[in-house]
Amino acid sequence: MKIAVLGSGYVGLTTGACLAETGNDVICADIVKEKVDALRRGEIPFFEPGLATLVAQNVAERRLTFTDDLAKAVRESYIIFIAVGTPPDEDGSADLSHVVAAARDIGRAMDGERIVITKSTVPVGTARLVREAIEAETDHTVRVCANPEFLKEGAALRDFRRPDRVVLGVDDPVADETLRDLYAPFVRTGNEILVMDTASAEITKYAANAMLASRISFMNSVARLCELTGADVDMVRLGVGSDRRIGPTFLFPGVGYGGSCLPKDVKALARTMNEVGANSAILDAVEEINAGQKGLLLEQCVERFGEDLSGRTFAIWGLAFKPNTDDMREAPSVVTIRGLKARGARVVAHDPVAMTQARSILGAAIEFRELNYDALEGADALIIHTEWHPYRHPDFIRMRTLLKQPIILDGRNLYTTSTMRDLGFEYYSVGRQPVRPGGQA
Ligand SMILES: NC(=O)c1ccc[n+]([C@@H]2O[C@H](COP(=O)([O-])OP(=O)(O)OC[C@H]3O[C@@H](n4cnc5c(N)ncnc54)[C@H](O)[C@@H]3O)[C@@H](O)[C@H]2O)c1
Repeated sequence: MKIAVLGSGYVGLTTGACLAETGNDVICADIVKEKVDALRRGEIPFFEPGLATLVAQNVAERRLTFTDDLAKAVRESYIIFIAVGTPPDEDGSADLSHVVAAARDIGRAMDGERIVITKSTVPVGTARLVREAIEAETDHTVRVCANPEFLKEGAALRDFRRPDRVVLGVDDPVADETLRDLYAPFVRTGNEILVMDTASAEITKYAANAMLASRISFMNSVARLCELTGADVDMVRLGVGSDRRIGPTFLFPGVGYGGSCLPKDVKALARTMNEVGANSAILDAVEEINAGQKGLLLEQCVERFGEDLSGRTFAIWGLAFKPNTDDMREAPSVVTIRGLKARGARVVAHDPVAMTQARSILGAAIEFRELNYDALEGADALIIHTEWHPYRHPDFIRMRTLLKQPIILDGRNLYTTSTMRDLGFEYYSVGRQPVRPGGQA
């Protein structure tokens, strides 16, 4: 099939590369010329495991091309995915300006019938908006579908190639058949294609992300309860998660959710609920708890070292909002680092892949080290934000030698409290009792 994907970010590029891999001819289009030029040179503008290789293979086999000429992409394709960004507007609602602009561009360029699919995360009713925007520009037939994407950054290829399910919002039999056919190679092992109306498909995406965010905020509230009552949240998590009705995933306490999806999607869904008169109290609470949780490590720091942190140095391990990505959008590390800097501290950080992105957000405010141990030299404490694998089994003896004092504030509960006690570290984590050498509580 001839396919155009508008928007070459995490979702658009993954979609384009995976659909090219199954034999389709795909043109990925983006309005940012520098991005398109970089892609043509074989450079992927963000870190996603395996994507560079897959893109290179499909480019070499002439199934995948890049352009900044959206009209050309539309003219040369029958199926057009809209995978542009939907950032939060000032009031928390999803900013649909990129989606509507893409729809208008499609309408203006169409020279025959097309199927247009919103892959971006968009509020209920957007399929209708997209159809109206296209039909305002053309008399050709357009079939608009909603096909939200559920991939996770860091595992995007695996998620696209083997999705738990594919959700298709279609109101038209031709689009229904075409999209089932397009996705058939990805659902051969029994995972389902769920076909529904466009409004239900649009809500499904937001409801799924809001559910994930709710689990995180819920467990972070339970973690606080554990801290205050002498319990251990990791034990509670195992006890709760082994109930099959609940399951073990997304129950890890930490420094709150971040990234480009959960924060904005919780806000946008709450906003939609308010607009139509549904009660958004549960989502308001999820968001409020998360905002508080993002400040946890800073709070622990201030409690331990005082409000004035001038003359202090803090090492940070992990900057990205989660491992296997360089995405810094809404990363909790930014809250901690800005708070430390505002109190006069020096910050020295390491992340395996996110340092370039972090530099663009935090500028010269912090120092970066290529090796994680180098960040520890002379630091008053180590603060852990991201559960990257190399941080899980570090050389603790070496860490003790490098740090000015053996203090770790761990926002991801990477180590057991007994190990920390045995090694003589002062250790603060989430939902567990602090470890203080000398045994004081
Ligand atoms: N990142 C994720 O993990 C993820 C997962 C599922 C769904 N989503 C959703 O998918 C959508 C895209 O997310 P992303 O992370 O890929 O965003 P992104 O910011 O990485 O990429 C969006 C791209 O669209 C381009 N663009 C903007 N307007 C355009 C236009 N009119 N025509 C062509 N290109 C245009 C931008 O230049 C950018 O390259 C969002 O709605 C997001 O919520 C994201």
